[in-house]
Amino acid sequence: MNEQLQNNLNDMAIEKFQKDLLNWFIREQRDLPWRKDSDPYKVWVSEIMLQQTRVDTVIPYYERFLKKFPTIEAFADADDESVLKIWEGLGYYSRVRNLHSAVKEVVTQYDGKVPNTLKEISKLKGVGPYTAGAILSIAYGVPEPAVDGNVMRVLSRILLIYEDIAKPSTRKIFEEAVREIINRDHPSYFNQALMELGALICTPTSPSCLLCPVREHCLAFSAGVEKDLPVKTRKKSTKHVDLLAAVLKTDKGKFLIRKRSSKGLLANLWEFPTVEDGEFMQMRTALAKYLEEEVDAGVLLETGTFTKVDHVFSHLTWSINVFAGSISGDIEVRENYLLVTKEELEEYAFPVSHQTIWKTYKKKVKL
Ligand code: ADE
Repeated sequence: MNEQLQNNLNDMAIEKFQKDLLNWFIREQRDLPWRKDSDPYKVWVSEIMLQQTRVDTVIPYYERFLKKFPTIEAFADADDESVLKIWEGLGYYSRVRNLHSAVKEVVTQYDGKVPNTLKEISKLKGVGPYTAGAILSIAYGVPEPAVDGNVMRVLSRILLIYEDIAKPSTRKIFEEAVREIINRDHPSYFNQALMELGALICTPTSPSCLLCPVREHCLAFSAGVEKDLPVKTRKKSTKHVDLLAAVLKTDKGKFLIRKRSSKGLLANLWEFPTVEDGEFMQMRTALAKYLEEEVDAGVLLETGTFTKVDHVFSHLTWSINVFAGSISGDIEVRENYLLVTKEELEEYAFPVSHQTIWKTYKKKVKL
């Protein structure tokens, strides 16, 4: 920690700050489903969902998830396909694969009790310093920091920290600061109050300083620089990929789907057969040829595309031109491909872009 930050911490009226923050949180906190219960398993599920996903989006997923897997044992017993299906649409699917392996480990190695020490909990798959701190503080009342991007934004302003929050090494500086200011009697409320302040008041572009319960403690407000913080360098620009996909139906009314690789983007999710759009051939011909080789059967594509779907990931954008078509002949599907009825298809987990393809197909084409 640099000297300036240590001085700012030394000058802070820490007890008054804690009191102002906690009283505000007790009064103003949102009524969120994961705040009803401090069961470590439920806290864990909610914190994993809330990484990279907005609260409003998470709420229905969280409720569905706990209805289907109400206990840690129920989730540990779930099969991989139903785990992906319940996460379908939330994105960042490695989160749930890691959560599932970690939960199985807790059930086998720790008799179903989520560990309550930093050392043990941090060994679990997908449990980084933020998640460890969130579970320890919220479920067990352990005064550990839980520093995510929102908390860094709030504290960069209160403590006038100009470190670049896009750099992974910066989080440690904020964790050290939290260790000095956290309320040791109420770490759960303290950490959640910082998150809540970031969500409701200390927002990214136009913070509502006039409503802020800790305005009198905020160095950025007093210097008039709250909008200049946090310092966050921009990421590299995103890559763009053009794709061609086909919804193929057999004469028996089944559809061809395939499972994505177990590594990389959208691992293990299902999709309609897709290929990158090379420029070497007319796109429809290229796609038909690719598909015939993949399934070893005759493929007939309709002349025009029936939809174009764009999807934005954090680091990548996709534009998918989609054809409808039919497959004929003796189809021997390869490994990773399946022929399914339309009812069966809906039991598999698809990326959002391919769910959109399917919905459009049902509406515009012949279902
Ligand atoms: N974001 C991350 N964790 C949260 C929580 N427990 N409540 C509200 N927003 C959050």
